[in-house]
Order: sequence, then C-alpha cells, then structure tokens
Amino acid sequence: MRLFFSSFTLIALLVVSIIPCGVLAENAPNQHKVLSLASPNNEIVLHFTDEDDLARYQLSFNGKEVIGLSKLGFTFAKALPMYRDFRLSEVSRNRVDSSWEQPWGEQRIIRDHHNELVVKYTDINNAQNIFYVRARAFDEGIGFRYEVPADSSRDITRELTEFNFLNSHQATAYWIPGQGRERYEYLYRTTPLQEVDKAHTPFTVEYTDGTHIAVHEAALVDYAGMSIQRQALGMFSANLAPRADGVLVKKTGSFVTPWRTITIGDEAVDLVNSFMALNLNEPSKIEDTSWINPGKYIGIWWGMHIDKFTWGSGPKHGATTERTMAYMDFAAEHGFDGVLVEGWNVGWDGNWIANSELFSFTESYPDFDLKRVHEHSLSTGVKLIGHHETSGGISNYEAQMEDGFALYQKMGVEQIKTGYVAFGQNLKNRDEQGVMRYEFTDSQDVVNHFIHNVKTAAQYQLSINTHESVKDTGLRRTHPNWISRESARGQEYNSGWAPPNPPEHLPIMAFTRMLSGPMDFTPGIFDFDYEREHGGGPEWGDKPYTRPLSTLARQLAQYVVIYSPIQMAADLPENYLAKPEPFQFIKDVPTDWETSIALQGSVADYVVFARKEKAHRHYSGNDWYLGALTNEDERVINVPLNFLDKGQRYEAQIYRDGDKADWRTNPYDMVIEKKTVTQDDTMTIRLAAAGGVAVRFKQL
Ligand code: NOJ
Ligand code: CA
Repeated sequence: MRLFFSSFTLIALLVVSIIPCGVLAENAPNQHKVLSLASPNNEIVLHFTDEDDLARYQLSFNGKEVIGLSKLGFTFAKALPMYRDFRLSEVSRNRVDSSWEQPWGEQRIIRDHHNELVVKYTDINNAQNIFYVRARAFDEGIGFRYEVPADSSRDITRELTEFNFLNSHQATAYWIPGQGRERYEYLYRTTPLQEVDKAHTPFTVEYTDGTHIAVHEAALVDYAGMSIQRQALGMFSANLAPRADGVLVKKTGSFVTPWRTITIGDEAVDLVNSFMALNLNEPSKIEDTSWINPGKYIGIWWGMHIDKFTWGSGPKHGATTERTMAYMDFAAEHGFDGVLVEGWNVGWDGNWIANSELFSFTESYPDFDLKRVHEHSLSTGVKLIGHHETSGGISNYEAQMEDGFALYQKMGVEQIKTGYVAFGQNLKNRDEQGVMRYEFTDSQDVVNHFIHNVKTAAQYQLSINTHESVKDTGLRRTHPNWISRESARGQEYNSGWAPPNPPEHLPIMAFTRMLSGPMDFTPGIFDFDYEREHGGGPEWGDKPYTRPLSTLARQLAQYVVIYSPIQMAADLPENYLAKPEPFQFIKDVPTDWETSIALQGSVADYVVFARKEKAHRHYSGNDWYLGALTNEDERVINVPLNFLDKGQRYEAQIYRDGDKADWRTNPYDMVIEKKTVTQDDTMTIRLAAAGGVAVRFKQL
C-alpha cells in the first residue's frame, strides 16, 4: 500500500497541474485525474480520483493515508448505474469561515470553518449519466454528499460508498450492530476492527498510534439510515436500511444524500470536540425559537420501570391526577421545569407493545383528569411534559398526531416525549391500500415520519424528545424543537427488566453515540436498593444486579458528561428528599451551555468534561462545571483547571466518591467538600471503580 500511495500522490500532483479545471482528459484514456481538498490547517486531505475509470476517494491525515481508495456511486433498479466507467472533473471550490449561534446547545457560538470542493463524475459512455459530490474539509474531518441531477425516478438498490480503513490490523472498533432487533439499544462491542460485521454509526475506531476515526452521517433527510458492512478486512461499505418494499431509497427528480462524515484526530477527545455534523446541516427552519426551552424535569416514570407503578390502569396505576399534582408541587419546590407523565392515556392495558393500534393520544384513563392537572400546572408554574408512546404504530400515530398536539398545546404543554417501542424492523405503517407494512427504524419512510413529527409539532410550538428514534445526524440545527432523543441504551436498562449497563457503557457512549447529539439518558438514580416483583428479560441469565452499576457520585457526574438540553432527575421524589446534599448538585447544574470541552479521556476507560453555563434565566453565566466518570477500573485523574476564567476565583463544590465507595457493596459513599481554586490550580481526584465526580465551580 505504501508503495502504491507514493506513486498515487506523484501522479496526482502531475495530473492536477497539467489538466485545466473542468476539462475531461478525453484523449488520454490511461491518464486519470485526482482532485484534492485540504482542511484549513492542511492536516486532512481528501482526494477524488477516476483511476481505473472508477469514482473513488481517499483520505490522508498528517501526511499518512488513513482511508485508502474507496468507491463512490450507486446502482438503481432501472436507471443507469453509477458504478464504473466514470471520469472526474472539477466544478467549484469555496472557503467558509463564519459563525452562527445555537438557540440551545453544548456550545452557544459554533464556528464553521471549512474548504469546499464540488466534483462531477461523468459516465464515459453516456454524458447524461452524471453525479456530483460536494465535499467539505474541516480541521476535524471531512463530509461529502452526493448530488444527483433530475431523472423521472430512481430506486436505489445500492449505495456504493466505501470506507477502506488502512492498517486495519492496528485498529480497535467500538460499535453496536446495525439494523438490529433492539434498534440502537445495545451494549457496545469492543473488537478488532477486522472483526466488525455490520455496524451502526457513529462508528469509532482507535489505532495503536493514537489516531481516532469516527464514521457517521449528517442531515439524514428523505433517505435511509446508513450502517456500514464489512466487505473485506478493514473495508466497509454503506448498507442502507431497506424500505418495506425492499428498495433502499426511492427518489423522483434530483436528490441529495445525507453527508457521509469522517471525523479524525490524534486523540479520543478530538472526536468529541467537533461541531462538523451541525455545520453540515441546514440552518434553523424555525425563526422564533423563544418557545423552545431547555430545562430539567422529573416524572412518573422510574416507578413503572421498577414495578412500583404500572402504565396501564389498575391498583398500581402510576399516572393519577393526585400523584401528578404532588409531583408538580415537588418540582415547583425544587426548581424543576416540568413533570413527565407516562401512561395517562388509554391504550396501555394488556400487551401494549403488541397493541400499537389501540393507543389513543387524547383519551385519558378515568383516574387522570387532564384539566385539573393543567390548572395545577398554572398555579405551580410547572409544565406537564406530554408523552406519546406509539409502540411503533406509525400510521395509528399519524392519524391522531395533530389532535394529540392540539390537546397538549391547550394544556400548556411545551415538550412531548415520544416512544417507538417495537423491534427495530417492526414499525407498523399501513400503505395506501391499508395493508400493514413493517419498517426499519431508519428506513426512508420512518426517517421521514420522525421529521414530519417534529415539523408538525413546531406548528403547535411543541418540542419533541424521541425515544427509540432514528439516530441523530445533527438535525437539531434545522429543527431546534427536536430537543433530545434516546437512540441508545439508557438508564431504563438499569431498572431490573434487563441486564444493566456495565460501567464501561458511558465511557464508550461518550465517544460513539454522543458524537451524534444530545441524549435523554435520564440520570440521577439515588436509591439502588429497590426490589422488583418481576425482573429480567430473555437474556437475563443469573440476574446479578437489578440496579445501576454505579456509585452515587457517578450519577451526578452524568449531568455534566452526557449532554442534553433537557435532563431528567429520574428517581422518585422521596429518594431525593432522603439525600438532600447530593440532590443540591442536580438542582444547581444547568442544561444549557456557553461552551463545552472534552478535556481528557480514552474510549471505554474514562472521560472528563468541563462546561461553562450559559447566561440565561437564573444562571449568571459565570460558573463552570466538571464531570468525569470511569469504567470498572478505579483511577486518579489530574485535571489542570486552566479552562476557568483568567483572574477569577471559584469555590469548587466537589461531589466525589468516598474512600470506601464500592459500586457493588457501598455505592453511596460520597464526599462533598469545598475548595477555593483558580485557573492555575490542578485538581487531583480519585474515581472509584464505576465511579465519578461532579464539580460546580461557583465564581466568587
Ligand atoms: C421506552 C422508553 O425509552 C422509556 O423511557 C419509556 O418509559 C417506555 N418506552 C414506555 O413508553
Ligand atoms: Ca428505550
């Protein structure tokens, strides 16, 4: 490969200099062309080529080829293939260095600094058969998308995009399966890159020399979600979730694909400290975003997961008027913005996962009085957070969606949590003939359903927090009312109905799932000693634990580590009242940030974040927060506090694992202490196994 690369580069230089832009080398059949695009700092260089008359790209980082020649193109059911016999030409170049402001986010101001190249590939045998590739190179990686001119219709049967990881024997991958039964709710696999089969994205790869690469996509709109499938050692190709009719993607007229993105850096945190995916998405379609509110909430929720309450009606029904009002009182007293209520509406009795068509989005159970709850919401100032569980019944939901939205809007609701509990290939969507069709979570129609849902919600000034949704691809920029989502294995798995998340789960998610966007993980479990009447799923085995594999300090750390503009305090109110001191951190921590920095970390081992609060509502904008957590290994972290503002003194309010903290036997041992610090100090903190630390730096 090395030999090949140097001759490739040499020819590239020659060809680029002898062939004028935009002219095909028609008379020189053996001479191929290479067009290159460098990142602003020149560290990343993307090359397009038509060598061997194939449309391909290649990527180098710090002078070293990391993604070898990788195919581009499509095959279609009827239209001419975009497969081989293609020639390359340059269309345009552009440079951008601008900034834009997020209405909410892990960082307020986002810099968009990139170089752009648009290339055209033309079929040697048919000059009408063309496609364009628009590529953007940022300092943190590259993105490219296909732009295909109009044709009457195209049914995509394959997207040929490849990701050819070189030196794959030196690489480890962190991944979950693509298009699986549990959607994206899997434990992460850590395997040699060469052993990956079909993986979901963000797909993260770590090389022995420290180079980290993540493959993902941006702006997934009217297209199928991409998994990547191994073709040969180190060589992967795009694998699109098929539609119910077996076609991958149906298109009429011209179309663009989502961006295929490759983030790359010298260390793991480089992947996190990137806003490339947001920059590749379109600006907000919502002009006035003042009604979209980040914040914190509690809910009638964990009680159902630990079997204390039920979603359905009966003696243990969780969603009663009285309980909701009491939760609102608690929320008002402790500064929460909302109360989520699940199971208030008809449809939960019996096997609600199978009976998706029985869900009503407007009719409540007799013991839940929506009007009284609304009145109580007005008197307490605490919002009701709505819930739309569909159990994957897309057509049932779409038929009632606007009625459901209208009702919630009337009841002062600002946010709705939606849910699509169904196996990942089983979302139920009736076709025009009324025949039930079964869809993947990330098939084209379901992708479109999720976008239709957030767009329609915007008309009612409602924000959506989707559970079991398609993966995030940065669309929160375009639709800022898509306020959060789950799309991974969250805290719910720690409630005892399935094997809990192992301690390494979060230090892997920080470098995989979290690269895609905010997650409604639902942190903050304070009581680990609950008993379940019913427990365990089919793979539960010897059922070793029915609780978070975590120390208490780690539950606090999650509020800083796992970014979401809405954060739940997931436990029962009484469990917070029993531990008022650690609860103070949850009350203090904001969910909207001026800036965020992943300071240190190593995939599957640990991660350390610092975030500065954004000035809004009762937050001054002066305080910093730090969160760190580790896997099953205890470790000591040294954190230079040079991120703190210069010349300022801070009271560091530290919530750390106590010396006797042990996630198996003594998870509650925690020390809360205060120190005065400045940016010249370094903090040395011991994290217990499965532990963590949370710090508020209150400016003095
Ligand atoms: C799965 C969601 O992730 C969870 O939060 C919710 O409670 C249940 N579905 C029921 O809707
Ligand atoms: Ca879920």
